[in-house]
Amino acid sequence: MTRLRLAVVSDLHIGRARSWDLCPYFSDECRARGSGFKCKIPFETETPRCQDEKYVDAFRDFVRDQELTADYLIVLGDLTHRGQPDEFQYATEVLQDIRAALAVAKSDVILVPGNHDVDWQVSALPDKTGVRFEQRFFPLAHKKWSLAKLMKRGAPKGWSCFGAPYFSLWSDEELLVVIYNSSWDDRKEKKVHHGHIDAVHLGELRAWLRRSAAPAKTKILAVHHHPVQYPNPFRDKEDFSEMDGATPQLLELMHENRFDLILHGHKHRPYFLPINSHAGQQIPILCAGSFSAIPDDRILFDAPNVFHIIELDEKAIPTDVAHPVLERGRVLTWAFDPARGWVRMHATEGIGGTEPFGTYVARDVLFGEIRAWVETELANTGRARSTELFQARPHLGYVERRVMSHVLDELKEAASLELSIPDDDPTGFVLTRRV
Ligand SMILES: [Fe+2]
Repeated sequence: MTRLRLAVVSDLHIGRARSWDLCPYFSDECRARGSGFKCKIPFETETPRCQDEKYVDAFRDFVRDQELTADYLIVLGDLTHRGQPDEFQYATEVLQDIRAALAVAKSDVILVPGNHDVDWQVSALPDKTGVRFEQRFFPLAHKKWSLAKLMKRGAPKGWSCFGAPYFSLWSDEELLVVIYNSSWDDRKEKKVHHGHIDAVHLGELRAWLRRSAAPAKTKILAVHHHPVQYPNPFRDKEDFSEMDGATPQLLELMHENRFDLILHGHKHRPYFLPINSHAGQQIPILCAGSFSAIPDDRILFDAPNVFHIIELDEKAIPTDVAHPVLERGRVLTWAFDPARGWVRMHATEGIGGTEPFGTYVARDVLFGEIRAWVETELANTGRARSTELFQARPHLGYVERRVMSHVLDELKEAASLELSIPDDDPTGFVLTRRV
């Protein structure tokens, strides 16, 4: 049974997003000239163009038709495109629309700062004192829009996303979200815009985690830049923008403290990848893609805009050393298709429409367990269905999609079976004897 639902969006880029209703600079002149014109958005005069008119309305209709709701809304950075006050003003309205559509309470929206939420125009002005650089977060942090409140709830005194240690906490009875501002050391003049985590900042988090009793909460690290590299680099150049510095130590700290999930944005191309530590413990990591940035064919190939809901089920108590249990659940992903609207994500190399997580078993052990069950089921009924397998052995419903797919392919060949997908269950399978 699902216990919590976390709606996740990232990289909205309000100001230069794909739709007219995500652009605060949109005018009657824009409407009269239609899409494809030379846009008058500040700083982006040569890179127009809203591609759709009513994106937020389409999202609202999709949420209503699918009867989707969530307990939390997590926004993983790049809420705006240029960190300008007009963009933040508009972004608060858009966030409100998304939140209300999903029936998330006002108090349960969580925001992570991104590199596009920084006002680089201010920090780029000549100044040897460093004071201008400190103003780079001024629009994001301004009390006028109360966005800073979305980055902090129950954080230790002195912690802030806008000054050292650039860590913050958002916490309630159910969730502990550690937020890090991975853009804190980025600068307009830098040629390579890495995210960065500083070992001193990390030391403060380590000390806090050591002092604080491990709460029986779902523990999440939320950060904008990617802390791991993915196997799909940019088409014509390497991807140098991942988080550098003390990232390996950060990931190890997450393992040590049994964090349940890592969520990040920045890449605009969604991916789901459980990562493991030296000790073999796994943490699922969701690279959330972009909710509404204009798709860029140079770097994204066919990556669409996406929206996710992470469903967290009951946490089971481990009773078997072969089936260690962390947080169990699944990531559900929808993609925006300009012709059809929001549709369930087709499985790509990076992410599928449903990505289960929470059971991490050695592949040979898994193969043996599934084969024994399938052989019995075939002998008794002539076919083996995934729905019955997951009823009989619930932990197998939380095996990663790719791992399950590899095991089924192996089993199909080893036992001469036919594998098919039932019409009424596109994420399930049926195995029968090959004739
Ligand atoms: Fe972005």
